[in-house]
Amino acid sequence: MQFALDDTTLELHQGDITRLTVDAIVNAANSGLRGGGGVDGAIHRAGGPAIMAECRRIGGCPTGQAVVTGGGDLPARYVIHTVGPIWQGGGRGEPELLRSAYAASLLRAEELDVTSIAFPSISTGVYGYPIALACGIAVGTVIEHVQRGTALQHIIFCLFSAGDYAVYEKHLSNVARNP
Ligand code: APR
Repeated sequence: MQFALDDTTLELHQGDITRLTVDAIVNAANSGLRGGGGVDGAIHRAGGPAIMAECRRIGGCPTGQAVVTGGGDLPARYVIHTVGPIWQGGGRGEPELLRSAYAASLLRAEELDVTSIAFPSISTGVYGYPIALACGIAVGTVIEHVQRGTALQHIIFCLFSAGDYAVYEKHLSNVARNP
C-alpha cells in the first residue's frame, strides 16, 4: 500500500528490512548499541561486523535519540540506530520517547542527505509497546515531519508480520480518507 503526501510517498511493506534497497534503514537498538534479537539481530547478521565495530566506537545512544553507522554488507548505505522505550504501561513517558525515536531518526536522515528510508516497528517486539498505539505514533510523527518539508521522497514502514501490516494498513487507510 502507498500513500502520497506532498512530494513524498509513504509505503507499507511486509518483510525483512535488511533486504530493502533504500538509502537508510532504521534499527530498533538498545541504549548500549550491543546488538540483540529481533530486527537488531537481523541487521547485524546481514550487515556483518563493520556495523558492530562502529557501534562500539560510538558507545551508546540514549532512549529517544538516534545515531548513524554505515550499512556494512547491507543494500542500504546507512543504518540509523534508534532506541525506543520499553513499554511499562504507558505512564512513564513512553509515547513521547517513541515519538522522539522516530523524529530523531528522521533528523539524522535529513543530515545524511538521503532520499529513501525504511523503519521497522520500533519498540513493539521485545520492548512490548502495543502495536496499535505504536502505529499511531509512528505514522503521525512521520506525517508531521513530511508536512514541515523534507528531502525524503520515499518512506517505508517495514512490518515483519501480517498482523502488524494489517494494523498499519487500517490506520493509513483512515488517515488517507480523513487527512
Ligand atoms: N525486519 C523488519 N522487522 C523485523 C525484523 C526484520 N528482519 N525482525 C524483527 N522485526 C520486527 C519485530 O517483529 C517487531 O515488530 O521488529 C519489530 C521490533 O521488535 P524488536 O526487534 O524486538 O525491537 P524492540 O521492541 O524495539 O526491542 C528492542 O530488542 O533485540 C533487542 O537489541 C534490541 O534490546 C533491543 C530490543
